[in-house]
Amino acid sequence: MLPLLALTLAGALQAAPGPGQQAVATAHPIATEAAHQILDAGGNAFDAAIAAAATLGVVEPYGSGIGGGGFFLLRQANGEAIDYRFIDARETAPQLAGRDLYRNISGEVQRDPAINGPLAAGIPGLPAALVHLAEHYGRLPLSQSLAPAIDAAEQGFAVTSRYQALGSFRVEAMRRDPETARLFLRDNDIPAEGSLIQQPELAQTLRALAEQGRAGFYAGPVAEQLLSSVQAAGGIWQQADLDNYQVIERQPIRFHSHGFEVISAPLPSAGGIALAGILQGLETLPKAQPGSTAWTHNLVELMRRTYRDRATLLGDGDFVPVPVERLTSASYARELASQIDPQRATPSSSLGMPKVFSEGSNTTHFSLIDADGNAVAATLSINLPFGAAFTVPGTGVLLNNEMDDFAADPDGVNEYGLAGGEANAIAPGKRPLSSMTPTLLENDQQLAVLGTPGGSRIITMVLLGSLEAIDGQPVERWVSRPRFHHQYLPDHIQIEQAAFSPQQQADLEALGHQIRPVGRDYGDMQALLWDKRRGELSAASDPRGVGQASVQLKTD
Ligand code: DON
Repeated sequence: MLPLLALTLAGALQAAPGPGQQAVATAHPIATEAAHQILDAGGNAFDAAIAAAATLGVVEPYGSGIGGGGFFLLRQANGEAIDYRFIDARETAPQLAGRDLYRNISGEVQRDPAINGPLAAGIPGLPAALVHLAEHYGRLPLSQSLAPAIDAAEQGFAVTSRYQALGSFRVEAMRRDPETARLFLRDNDIPAEGSLIQQPELAQTLRALAEQGRAGFYAGPVAEQLLSSVQAAGGIWQQADLDNYQVIERQPIRFHSHGFEVISAPLPSAGGIALAGILQGLETLPKAQPGSTAWTHNLVELMRRTYRDRATLLGDGDFVPVPVERLTSASYARELASQIDPQRATPSSSLGMPKVFSEGSNTTHFSLIDADGNAVAATLSINLPFGAAFTVPGTGVLLNNEMDDFAADPDGVNEYGLAGGEANAIAPGKRPLSSMTPTLLENDQQLAVLGTPGGSRIITMVLLGSLEAIDGQPVERWVSRPRFHHQYLPDHIQIEQAAFSPQQQADLEALGHQIRPVGRDYGDMQALLWDKRRGELSAASDPRGVGQASVQLKTD
């Protein structure tokens, strides 16, 4: 493996449509290796994305998997022409799910079934997405692209400190489900670092998907097992839900800002819309030095306003009308920016909807590019660490708890402290609103590919990473920079310890901001940069996680 490899044959590169090298950044070394292996075998970026996604689902059972869903943002390089595509593989609410799914007979919303066990699970989208990618974008058969994931499930992977930390957060729920405890705990407790986690049943299910495509998961014996154990444990999935599940190809959100075209996630993600408001809004404000108090104030005030819109206006656009064009326009961003008082924080309460918020914690992201310039930014999730902590016996499928991304309670908040309204109420077949924000920034000189897990803070992490890219900083800086976040409510700036100097903290407080260290670092960003002029690829993995980024010459 070669670190930051530079090709200097500029003349040759200009003629070439792609970088001539490949780069992969994922949250786990086994998944990074899997993607390189598939590229080396003649696969393109989309085959490599199948390998990375499926392998991450095996080696990060806390983050994503075939029991969950996610988003794939694709850059398809067809010679000189470039196509951007967005594959929405978000989970859907089952047909029997209504807006009051989590209310008891006295009308109170119950938190436990919204996050633990099969009632919390939406209909998985990732298996359908893997098949879709292989059929419409890949060069290799699905069976080849899934082989590394099948191997990883059979051979096992070693427990890391990250596994332990995320497991501790969910251990109580994991103990309640015998199959989850058998697979992912040892003696009913968090396994020691280095313990081997093998998943032979999951290998079998992946094999069924590899051999039969969709029918290997959404029909036949796997589907029968999913339905019978979900129903026996109080869930409401039916065969029709599995039959009806479809990935949707959508137009990504696209806008121009700071000299780049930004290509990002559309509904049911709030990410692209929020980025459009913040990045375009920032451009209309007096220029401030990145990192300065004025710059931070402007960003926080824009975050506050876009997260207010998230809570009040956003939901699955196939079910509710959302004024996307207006919300992503330069004129709306200007309007948001013009409401900012440069001398004073705007109390969120003055913007409406007072609510009490808490905050939450996994999910995964990878960024990769092949030698031809096909690229993928994918953020995949089962929502909370270890999802619903419910594994279907005989299948190895750990279910998501993505239903908690709906606003089950118009007067309450979800596990990330996010409020939501009518637009994000539960309805059969609907997709819960997401914050996952796989993003590309491109101009003639550069292509940046980035994203991260992190619940409600995903959008602001991608924002800060994008601003580093815009500022010409190296990719290591995008993923490592200290982070701050505001989500409208609670009305304070959430920060990593190192985000502000004591002086800057005092200056921001003097403007009326409240600042709360979140107590630990957050996010696991995976990013890459193609510097087209210099013909260089660089990639980086967030130092907060256990991921691996590497650039390699294509080995034919
Ligand atoms: O779609 C969403 O916004 C959430 N389900 C993502 C969850 C997440 O990133 C958790 N990570 N730490």
